[in-house]
Amino acid sequence: MKPARILFVCLGNICRSPLAEGVLRALAARKGLASMISVDSAGTGAWHIGDPPDRRSIEVARRHGIDISGLRGRKVDKPDFEAYDLILGMDGENVRALRQMAPAELSAKVHLFMAYASGRDQDVPDPYYDGPEAFERLYQMLEAGCSSLLERLDERAS
Ligand code: 4NP
Repeated sequence: MKPARILFVCLGNICRSPLAEGVLRALAARKGLASMISVDSAGTGAWHIGDPPDRRSIEVARRHGIDISGLRGRKVDKPDFEAYDLILGMDGENVRALRQMAPAELSAKVHLFMAYASGRDQDVPDPYYDGPEAFERLYQMLEAGCSSLLERLDERAS
């Protein structure tokens, strides 16, 4: 079976979506499911193109044994809607922006991450203006969501 191609999207592509990318990749590797997915991340905004993730996301990932320091920010682009099977926005605003950009016939690929992963209609809140404790909460939420997402993809594959 071909890997599910997953694109995580947030606003800046420096806090939430690169962390989600690192967490999903690490969980898949730990569960022996690395070949089931290919994963990337992008932002709806252009402020952080070429930038590494926010140091607070790098740090919380590192504390959990994951290295995301090599990732670099990019903006979502039209070809992404062809290139990925699932385009998962971190919050409702990201999902709205993605649906506006998406070619009509491909907009069904766009979902709210937590809703798709675990059936919970819940945003992953933007932690950019919050303190370091928000990044541990972010990590826990992304780990739970990515774990549910892998279960869902694994069920689909079997
Ligand atoms: P992210 O967080 O969308 O989780 O990467 C943000 C990062 C930067 C900005 C906003 C949100 N910003 O306005 O630069």
